[in-house]
Amino acid sequence: MTSLLVIGAGRMAEAIISGLVAKEKNRFSSITVSNASNMQRLDRLKRTYGVHVTQDAIGKAASHDVILLAAPPEAHDHLLEQLKEVIDHQLVLTVAAGVDPAYIEARLSTGTPVAWIMPNTAAGIGQSMSTFTCGKYVDNHHRIIIDYILSSIGESEELSAEKVHDLTAITGSAPAFLYAFALGLEEAAVNYGVNRKQARMLVIQMLKGSVSMLEHNGDPQLLMDQVASPGGSTAKGIEILNEQGFASILKEAVRATNNHARTHNE
Ligand SMILES: NC(=O)c1ccc[n+]([C@@H]2O[C@H](COP(=O)([O-])OP(=O)(O)OC[C@H]3O[C@@H](n4cnc5c(N)ncnc54)[C@H](OP(=O)(O)O)[C@@H]3O)[C@@H](O)[C@H]2O)c1
Repeated sequence: MTSLLVIGAGRMAEAIISGLVAKEKNRFSSITVSNASNMQRLDRLKRTYGVHVTQDAIGKAASHDVILLAAPPEAHDHLLEQLKEVIDHQLVLTVAAGVDPAYIEARLSTGTPVAWIMPNTAAGIGQSMSTFTCGKYVDNHHRIIIDYILSSIGESEELSAEKVHDLTAITGSAPAFLYAFALGLEEAAVNYGVNRKQARMLVIQMLKGSVSMLEHNGDPQLLMDQVASPGGSTAKGIEILNEQGFASILKEAVRATNNHARTHNE
């Protein structure tokens, strides 16, 4: 059996822990969680998920098989510096934006197996689309553990580190872009006189149906053409989106997100 130490006890740590403990057979013999200072939060996680908690993650690291960093990217340098002194080739994982395997390997002893997982907030309901990439020293046994963690929060796709960087905006941040889109439509509906609750319900169901259509058909252009018959009213709306550069705005948002995430990896 394998023991897991989670450093950082925020939203992403909780999403992963809740996914792991909900699994029929939890392969971790123990899960210990730590954060920077918030003891109340640790107590809540302990009561809710039956995990162990500690405020001395570094002191506990040597006795754990897998260490999962769920702290902010800017906390990584110091954490890795401290971990280097106490661990001996345990598997080290991070979910931090922009912190790739080469970055972690450079700060830990040679031969340490490491991997970088990029989940999104839907991890909290087991629906994340996570990307991940493994470092040089990850073997099949480590991969089984990584797969196990990833499957507890949704679907995953292994990519090169470069591609995980490039797709951070698409799988990690684009949910926020979609919520901005939903909010915009909600505001438009409210402006036509429906109340906020009705507007929200209308937009959510429209999005649900559209995602199901995408799942069935897979081709957004074809689905778009089915709604927007030439010369029709939807085509008029699409014309405005095109004129205002909808696609290029999205590309620009993706580029800015990725550039910002990469600053933590320099
Ligand atoms: N939320 C997302 O959708 C998402 C998606 C992909 C990746 N991520 C990544 O997940 C990581 C955590 O994000 P989050 O959304 O869970 O953030 P969060 O809710 O703000 O939680 C951050 C956690 O890290 C702890 N922490 C901060 N500095 C620490 C340190 N030096 N040592 C130990 N613990 C420390 C905090 O402890 P205190 O509360 O005691 O300060 C808190 O428990 C980030 O690296 C982020 O890039 C998040």
